[in-house]
Amino acid sequence: MKVAVIGGTGRMGRAIAKQLSRENQVVIGSRDPSRAREAALGTWGGTGDDYRGAARQTEASVLAIPYPALGQVSALKDVLSDKLVVSAVNPLKAEGGLLRYALEKGSAAEEIAGLLPRSHVATAFNNVSSFFFEREEVAPMDILVAADSRDTYEWAARLVRTVPNLRPLYAGPLSQAEVIERITPLVLNLATLNGTGSLSTRFVSTKDTG
Ligand SMILES: NC(=O)c1ccc[n+]([C@@H]2O[C@H](COP(=O)([O-])OP(=O)(O)OC[C@H]3O[C@@H](n4cnc5c(N)ncnc54)[C@H](OP(=O)(O)O)[C@@H]3O)[C@@H](O)[C@H]2O)c1
Repeated sequence: MKVAVIGGTGRMGRAIAKQLSRENQVVIGSRDPSRAREAALGTWGGTGDDYRGAARQTEASVLAIPYPALGQVSALKDVLSDKLVVSAVNPLKAEGGLLRYALEKGSAAEEIAGLLPRSHVATAFNNVSSFFFEREEVAPMDILVAADSRDTYEWAARLVRTVPNLRPLYAGPLSQAEVIERITPLVLNLATLNGTGSLSTRFVSTKDTG
């Protein structure tokens, strides 16, 4: 797949671009194209461009930008039309010594779908710390994916499966993105409060355990 990583100069963007670039043609998107080209050096054969250029030349985009920056996405409405858009965005705030979910209700992914009405929006990768993707080999993990149609889910799941050891799990329609995004502060707080190092999602199945 030819895939853009919008915000691919950030911590999560660089890490996910590196892993996706093993099996996909990656274009890093940055507000500053020279920073995008520098970040692309950390991928296998990836290139860099500004957000519009990266979105225009690809069939799928992963959004790895901060929640407060989401407004910029609406300027990409035309170039992301009829394409897959995967949100990794988590609205978080620090309060009382813990990280908390920043929205009263709804999710970043649903807001993105509202900004991009002609795109196929899914949420994925929200609960994985970039540290897992910075490593050479990614640990076995479950990637929770929500999308309003099964076709959009399958498209996003195909992208997830291009990274060895990642298992996509369908979480239902995009209204479930709120549940997925809310897991992220829980996971981050669990890691801090228990000194475990970075944590991610992995479910145990009776099919695996017999
Ligand atoms: N870090 C993780 O482990 C992790 C894991 C899962 C999900 N996420 C999600 O991924 C998103 C990015 O997280 P991150 O930790 O990678 O953040 P980050 O290191 O701060 O990078 C964010 C990138 O977004 C771009 N950006 C666009 N508008 C921006 C603005 N107004 N202010 C700052 N940066 C802006 C920047 O790229 P340019 O300036 O080059 O355009 C920047 O490199 C967040 O929504 C987060 O919840 C992060």
